[in-house]
Parts: sequence; C-alpha cells; structure tokens
Amino acid sequence: MDPQRRAHYLSALGVEQWQPRAPVPVPVAAPAVSDEPGAQWLRLREEVAHCTRCPLHAGRTQGVLGVGDMHAGWMVIGEAPGAEEDRLGEPFVGRAGKLLDAMLKAIGLARGSGVYIANVLKSRPPNNRDPLPAEVAACRPYLARQIALIRPKLMLAVGRIAAQNLLGTDQSLSGLRGKVHAFGESGTPLIVTYHPAYLLRTPADKRKAWEDLKFARDLYQRLGAE
Ligand code: URA
Repeated sequence: MDPQRRAHYLSALGVEQWQPRAPVPVPVAAPAVSDEPGAQWLRLREEVAHCTRCPLHAGRTQGVLGVGDMHAGWMVIGEAPGAEEDRLGEPFVGRAGKLLDAMLKAIGLARGSGVYIANVLKSRPPNNRDPLPAEVAACRPYLARQIALIRPKLMLAVGRIAAQNLLGTDQSLSGLRGKVHAFGESGTPLIVTYHPAYLLRTPADKRKAWEDLKFARDLYQRLGAE
C-alpha cells in the first residue's frame, strides 16, 4: 500500500502514526582514571609541568620532577633545581650533579639504575636562594607521591636543606649525619650526607661524605638481607 493511503486508513481508524523520535542520548561513562603506576607517573609529570602552586612557576623554565629507576631501592633527595637543571629538566646535571654521580658510582649505583634522584622543590628558586617554607609546603605532595610510588628501601638526603625539610627539624647537618632516621609515616630509613655543591667548595669534607656513603651502603645491604 502506498504510504499516503496507509496514513489515511490509519488516521480514519484513529491509530496514531509512528513518528520517529529524537534519539535518546546514551549515557557515556566517564573514562576511568587509571591507578596503574605508569598512569600515576604520567599524571605526576603533567601536574609538575603545569604546576602553579607557588610563585616559583613564574620564573622557571620548567618543572623538574626527577630522574632514574622507578623501582629503585635508593632514593636521593636534594634541595631544588639550579640553573642547569631548570634548563635541561633533570635534577643534578650541573657540576654538583657530576660529583653526585661519582659519589653514587663509589657505592655501585648509577643514575637510572638502582637509584631515583629528586628534589624537595620542583621549581628553581631565583638566584639559587634557599626554598621558603611555603614553597616547600606547596611542593611536598609531589615528593610524597614520588616516594609512595617508588617505595625506596633507603633514602639519602643530600644537604642540610633537604635533610631538615624531609625530617621536619632544624638540627644542623653535623647533628643529623651518622644516624639512621625514619622518614614520615612509612618510617623508611633515611641517611643524611653533605650536598655535592658544598663538597665542591669544601673538598676536605669529601672524606666525611665517603664515611656517610659507606654507612648508607652497609645499611642497605643489611636491609636487603632482611
Ligand atoms: N642542587 C640540588 O639540590 N638539586 C639539584 O637538582 C641541583 C643542584
């Protein structure tokens, strides 16, 4: 039957014609946010790259998250990126970084293998001044997330600023060296040594830094044996 006649009969019978309805929107589930460590690292990197939590973002070239082995047993933590780190986006790549690499090599570690390197601050303070408490507080969640993802067996704080901020103390570096501290809620063992930039200025203290590294290496071996 032709459609017009069919419509005529149907309306005579009082039957409403079927009308195409507007498509019903099918709810699309929001993409699930993955909790996989790889996805968490990606998010962390993105957040640090776009971070504006403190005024340092205005003067930096880029945020410097960290570098190395994401399954490392060791985590080395310094203070903040300097000029070279800000330019290249990697911690400890200037002169102090070369010395840090040599220190790590002396205990059998290499950047990218067995160790992850990060800083308390992810943005460079102007003229390499000390981090302000508000900057440290703003940046702390990033470092906390890095530590939670890596779950290092041992943390090595290099320099007074890193050590004091990680341990929440104002004790001097000499007072903090030579002891095993417990970091935060996890209680991860933490050892304190000199900052390599200080050692470049004061090479006579390299011997004491070597004592710290041997102390840390011995502890790490014992932790591994447990
Ligand atoms: N000093 C630090 O504490 N961290 C760096 O990344 C470079 C120099």
